[in-house]
Amino acid sequence: MSKVLSAVAWPYANGPRHIGHVAGFGVPSDVFSRYMRMAGHDVLMVSGTDEHGTPILVAADKEGVSARALADKNNAVIVQDLHDLGLSYDLFTRTTTVNHYSVVQELFRVCHANGYMVERTTSGAISPSTGRTLPDRYIEGTCPICGFPDARGDQCDNCGNQLDPTDLVEPRSKINGETPEFVQTQHFFLDLPALADALQAFLDDREATGLWRTNVIRFSQGIVKEMRPRAMTRDIDWGIPIPLDGWRDQPTKRLYVWFDAVIGYLSASIEWARRIGDDQRWREWWNDPEAVSYYFQGKDNVTFHSQIWPAELLAYAGRGALGGTPGVFGELDLPTEVVASEFMTMEGKQFSSSRGVVIYVGDMLARYQADALRYYICAAGPETQDSDFTWAEFVQRTNSELVAGWGNLVNRTASMIAKNFGEVPAAGELHDIDRRILDTVAGAFDTVGDLIGRHRQRAAVGEAMRVVGEVNKYVTDTAPFKLKGDDERERLGTVLHVLAQCVLDLNRVLAPFLPHSSNRVWATFGGEGEFMPMPRIEHVTDLGPVEDAPADPSVADAELRTYPILTGDYSATPRWERVPVVVETPVAKPSPIFVKLDPSVVEEELARYAARPDGSGDTAAGEDG
Ligand code: MF3
Ligand code: ZN
Repeated sequence: MSKVLSAVAWPYANGPRHIGHVAGFGVPSDVFSRYMRMAGHDVLMVSGTDEHGTPILVAADKEGVSARALADKNNAVIVQDLHDLGLSYDLFTRTTTVNHYSVVQELFRVCHANGYMVERTTSGAISPSTGRTLPDRYIEGTCPICGFPDARGDQCDNCGNQLDPTDLVEPRSKINGETPEFVQTQHFFLDLPALADALQAFLDDREATGLWRTNVIRFSQGIVKEMRPRAMTRDIDWGIPIPLDGWRDQPTKRLYVWFDAVIGYLSASIEWARRIGDDQRWREWWNDPEAVSYYFQGKDNVTFHSQIWPAELLAYAGRGALGGTPGVFGELDLPTEVVASEFMTMEGKQFSSSRGVVIYVGDMLARYQADALRYYICAAGPETQDSDFTWAEFVQRTNSELVAGWGNLVNRTASMIAKNFGEVPAAGELHDIDRRILDTVAGAFDTVGDLIGRHRQRAAVGEAMRVVGEVNKYVTDTAPFKLKGDDERERLGTVLHVLAQCVLDLNRVLAPFLPHSSNRVWATFGGEGEFMPMPRIEHVTDLGPVEDAPADPSVADAELRTYPILTGDYSATPRWERVPVVVETPVAKPSPIFVKLDPSVVEEELARYAARPDGSGDTAAGEDG
């Protein structure tokens, strides 16, 4: 049994999330975490909403509300959506808690004390017409590396390189097209060159495992070759104060949103421990070199998880060229694996709320079953290459795979048992065909489990559904519906017993993907209680600064606000192994597990989305501060 940290990317709270987002970070991390719990590991799954940075400010300005009010509103929507999707977070919190502020400030302070935060005068962009700071993301221009004409000031989406706005050829403001003016301003830079050897050693070690996806390790190795200091503060008034004299009181100097967001994994782990009344418990996932950690995200986050976050951890521990000593949190584990997915498109186009190319999670869940969406993402998501969501494929997969494949197997097995016995019958003597199907299904625990453990969920769900097909074939071959005579009753009982075993086994194997329906299948076969534990929403009050670290004056008397969290008790998670069916368990006439979709759904949905560019939000990727 190991300690497994499931570190799930923090969705921006600048608007509701769309299905492309949850295909990247949400569903894959939940499938993995649920499976790892079933396999007996001690999983801590944490995340929250990412609420600082310019995207929030811009959205707030547009709506004429404060950044905090906007974040409050979207945090509530996102918590509800992730809950409805059944994502089993131990804690889903937010970056605007005082707990988080104090953990972030502790990291900054120690990185600074160890010498890895260097103060520099730099050139910053302002808008000449308004005098306001123009954040990197709101400056566009030509990429100096690849020549892409629409590179952003922080990153080029074409070649993936990190950029500074001053690198851009012919920079322009994305807000009003004017040429930004660059002024002199003071910032703290993370001294990546001083951490380069340690980062390289980290990546080489991870590369040697052969576990990281090719795209991810190749990209990470590429950027580590050309490291320069990166600014970890910004000219902005929304963010975490810099915990140093002369800095904390400056109203327009704040920590960079990415500096604070990645620390969320740690601060959320600490918050979780504080909430369960065992303050130091988080250390089992962070200070033990044997613990493992998996970071789930879309590909535009890789830089921050394979470089910036490890660099912050190394600097905090004093493990760079300048030495140093760790702070109160001790030496913290580096990511075991950065599990990044590619992008999902919709009907061949990039998701974009401003252009109306978007399916919000909430809208989807209002109309369709959560497990139908989960299934689509697992079976056809952007795991190692971009993938497309189409309504036609959604309807087709739901109807032919969930309804006609798995749902039908469950349904006819339960119907035949209900009708003929009313309870799970005992098995008589097994024939070869019975033994063979039982072995095939038992084998799925190994094959599917191994694939999920290696983050190959498309193959894993495909293999599970292939075995569903085998069991459906077993029904055809043994034809229990034809076993009607008194002399065939024992054989009928045997076949239905074998089928019940197969269905309950497959329900376990499919449970990480389809937790909601696994509960219904379980109940259909007379199971009691919840089979796969589900998350719940709780309203809690901010716990305030962490006790072990010195509280900066900027948080000492901050308001302790109330907010919703996602949490859950997953201790009753079923085991990943065959559990023999219990003879005589009552089975009643079932109702269908999955809703069959009318083919007209395709036209309806296409019309719905064609009808609106609603202009209410952002584009899919790279929402940076
Ligand atoms: N908010 C970022 C995005 O949606 C992800 C942040 S992940 C974190 O792309 F760990 F840094 F928080
Ligand atoms: Zn480029």
